[in-house]
Amino acid sequence: MATSSAPGKVYLFGEHAVVYGEPAVLCAIERRARVTAEARDDDRLRVQANDLTLDGFTVTWGGDADDRPDVDVPTPLVEAAMGYIDGAVEQARDAADAPAAGFDVTVESEIPLGAGLGSSAAVVVACIDAATRELGVDLDAETVADRAYRVEHEVQDGEASRADTFCSAAGGAVHVQGDDCRRLDDTPNLPFVVGYDGGAGDTGELVAGVRSLREEFDFAADTVEAIGDVVRRGERALGDGDVEAVGRLMDFDHGLLSALGVSSRSLDTMVWAAREAGALGAKLTGAGGGGCIVALDRTEQTHTALQYTPGCEEAFRAELDADGVRAER
Ligand code: MEV
Repeated sequence: MATSSAPGKVYLFGEHAVVYGEPAVLCAIERRARVTAEARDDDRLRVQANDLTLDGFTVTWGGDADDRPDVDVPTPLVEAAMGYIDGAVEQARDAADAPAAGFDVTVESEIPLGAGLGSSAAVVVACIDAATRELGVDLDAETVADRAYRVEHEVQDGEASRADTFCSAAGGAVHVQGDDCRRLDDTPNLPFVVGYDGGAGDTGELVAGVRSLREEFDFAADTVEAIGDVVRRGERALGDGDVEAVGRLMDFDHGLLSALGVSSRSLDTMVWAAREAGALGAKLTGAGGGGCIVALDRTEQTHTALQYTPGCEEAFRAELDADGVRAER
């Protein structure tokens, strides 16, 4: 039996634009997905997920690729989660040259599904690491990130960047632009506060929406490029340790993402609650449509304000997690 864990993340800057080759900066946060893989003596895959902030569910899967998972909770998110786990196990079989390996997989996650905190990337990264180790193969974090990216790319119909999976595998603060993925050292302490509306967006649909806007309107394509400019500025501000400037640029990024149609009423309400409480900056994180915002505030005021904001289900401080994927057992 092998257990691995991998962190969730927030986007400081650059979601959506990163899909079109613009840079993005993300930070791993201390909320983790833990995946245990235990080899079976047949080729089946049994998945148990008790803590995906959905009611607990168990699915048993055949070894046949055409098999549909037998899911007793008819939630598209659950099916998507199963698609990610199925893809991760395929990658582990390929890496270990064991095409008929079967597993009992258990997922426990502190990261809400589809909420912009990188739940799927963390589950895929941890699952590839645990399942390959269970088959006697140790992959380095970069290889795990690359294989996890292939899974996201497939599940998201070719519309995925390397950002979420690289950040989860590498940990810390990272820069991603196309295939150029690296950790950023010497970043200042970033006082993250996260607000969660209890909902979720459909990443595939949101990414497709931005793509069609970009194709229809030159100014939408310009907006995507403008996000790239914000990210470049933001990365310089980070390097200078200028947290105030980072906050202002996060505000700007949120405005551009709203223009691209990926915010929502509850995300905007939480962003404004954070700004009015004195946050240095606030924006949605991840694909949008619902889920989480991230704000910067050294005081307790944003955290307190979000706890009393209608539509905000949970607010918490998030610490940067320097560790990426790691073996737990
Ligand atoms: C989703 O967490 C982030 C997006 O930029 C998609 C991607 O980068 O794959 C919207």
